[in-house]
Amino acid sequence: MSESMSGITRTHYCTEISAVNQGQTVTLTGWVDTRRDHGGLVFIDLRDRTGIIQVVISPDINPASFDKAGEVRSEYVLAVVGKVSQRPEGTVNPNLATGEVEVLVDEMRILNRAKTPPFYIEDGVEVDENLRLRYRYLDLRRPEMQQTMMLRHRAGRSVREFLDQHGFLEIETPMLTRSTPEGARDYLVPSRINPGRFYALPQSPQLYKQILMVAGMDRYYQMARCFRDEDLRADRQPEFTQIDIEMSFVQVEDILPLMEEMIARLCRETIDLEITASFPRLTYQEAMDRFGSDKPDTRFGMEIKDITDVAAGCGFKVFASAAQGGGQVRCINATGCAGMSRKDIDDLAKFAAIYQAKGLAYMIVNGDGIKSAITKFFNDSELDTIRERLDAREGDLLLFVADKPDVVAAALGALRLHLAERLEMIPKNKYNFLWVTDFPLFDYDEEEKRWVAMHHPFTSPREEDMPLLESDPGRVRAQAYDMVLNGIEIGGGSIRIHRREMQETMFAALGLTGEEAQEKFGFMLDAFEYGTPPHGGIAFGFDRLIMLLAGRKTIRDVIPFPKTQSATDLMNMAPGGVDNRQLKELHIKLDIKEKK
Ligand code: AMO
Ligand code: AMP
Repeated sequence: MSESMSGITRTHYCTEISAVNQGQTVTLTGWVDTRRDHGGLVFIDLRDRTGIIQVVISPDINPASFDKAGEVRSEYVLAVVGKVSQRPEGTVNPNLATGEVEVLVDEMRILNRAKTPPFYIEDGVEVDENLRLRYRYLDLRRPEMQQTMMLRHRAGRSVREFLDQHGFLEIETPMLTRSTPEGARDYLVPSRINPGRFYALPQSPQLYKQILMVAGMDRYYQMARCFRDEDLRADRQPEFTQIDIEMSFVQVEDILPLMEEMIARLCRETIDLEITASFPRLTYQEAMDRFGSDKPDTRFGMEIKDITDVAAGCGFKVFASAAQGGGQVRCINATGCAGMSRKDIDDLAKFAAIYQAKGLAYMIVNGDGIKSAITKFFNDSELDTIRERLDAREGDLLLFVADKPDVVAAALGALRLHLAERLEMIPKNKYNFLWVTDFPLFDYDEEEKRWVAMHHPFTSPREEDMPLLESDPGRVRAQAYDMVLNGIEIGGGSIRIHRREMQETMFAALGLTGEEAQEKFGFMLDAFEYGTPPHGGIAFGFDRLIMLLAGRKTIRDVIPFPKTQSATDLMNMAPGGVDNRQLKELHIKLDIKEKK
């Protein structure tokens, strides 16, 4: 039988008790973390959101409570009333915040019983993640998860306070809306009242926040839920949260420093981390050249070096033809890896092949010079140049890829990360923030044979590149920027187009006909004709930020109720079926092919 809380009220959270409270009578509530019977006394570690305190139940104080304590099990819900007491000599627990004290229980009530949980409620449990997700309420009860949720809360509060102090208005935008242009697949919601028509859940509030600038709101923000039906990864969820921001009458130079300040404050107020509020900046081109990535991890070196000039004249066909045919030959120095086995190097080549590299040439630097199957194709001065560029020393392994620039960057960029992880070159507790700027405005979609917007179609080109819009789209740079932390893109934004003609030129460059542009974005084009201020903004991936601040490896660990790889919620088994009546109301007939 369970008891009620009648007549008692919690006075403290468990870890609010310390030696200062000695002698006071307190009322605590929480869950049984552990129970130990010891020579006529029962010790219970009582746990709440804040942590653990030891309570002691003695038959001498209250025989009825002592009897009850015998039937208590893990995760039972208790209320205890008792006196705070200094722990006896030699029983202080330095691992516990409340380790100096205990509560001698006058009265204990069992508020509820619990089945044996399917896993221990403790940090670092090694159980299948699916089990954790199915019993998410128990998983969230674990101290590290509770701390993460508190961190998430503090982070949100810090950001809100900062933005409030800087004149931003928090404004909500609709969830039931039209398709937006971030480029992922939409989640659709059928309209019952408008048969055959669908709302799309927003991939971001992009269009609304721009419209709010047209509406004269000047500075907007929102902790915005976004929905994207895309392939999921460790740092991607179908439903996630952005710190979404837009400002009027600004240029890039107004936005970036303000955002640095916001993030610096966030780090200080959440994990007590001081960072310099002036982040390094790399152009997209620099980032690709040096790190093979538009979200470079600069916590370690191993930068990519170019030897296309040397390779162009060498006798190794693969290199020379790449160099002469508009491709590149580039390399990284896997320092100290000269001893790597043939098989290990073959595995690296296989890894590079995932990124379309057709091979991975290598040179081993040892006492006698450079040893490699391809050394014979280079003369001494060429080898010296290579060694110099890579700062190669005895014991190093040099890895080369020759190909089109994008393949070279992708393969060496990935190899660089792979090796750094393997060689444990990435320092812990280092937070490298940086900006990547000057992204290309367009990306060429080889499959569809057309230009697509690299960020989104509302991004403004750089003024000086505007003349290239029609003549040479590939060379147009955007007024776009990403914030990167430790190799993860945590935010991205741009200065927007704010004139109708420019927006129409942009749509045309993306292959939209006038009618298509009008049909999809007509309201926006129309709005642009009523006095649209110059504006720009950014959105941060809130979940990714929290993941990095909390030192976790996946955003699933910082989202209260995340979805699995196959986009299901294992706790309530969403998405679920619906009955025929509902489908009928929505004018929907299912046409599902039987799985073979
Ligand atoms: P973008 O698409 O770059 O820009 O998104 C902004 C940031 O959101 C995070 N993010 C995600 N986080 C978790 N799961 C996902 N599936 C996911 N997709 C994106 C990333 C990313 O940097 N409207 C523009 C912003 C703007 O121009 O102001 C936008 O949404 O951290
Ligand atoms: P092959 O002459 O094809 O046997 O290649 C000799 C070496 O060059 C092997 O180690 C290959 O992995 C490497 N190799 C082949 N193609 C490339 C390429 N495109 N870039 C870098 N290395 C390559």
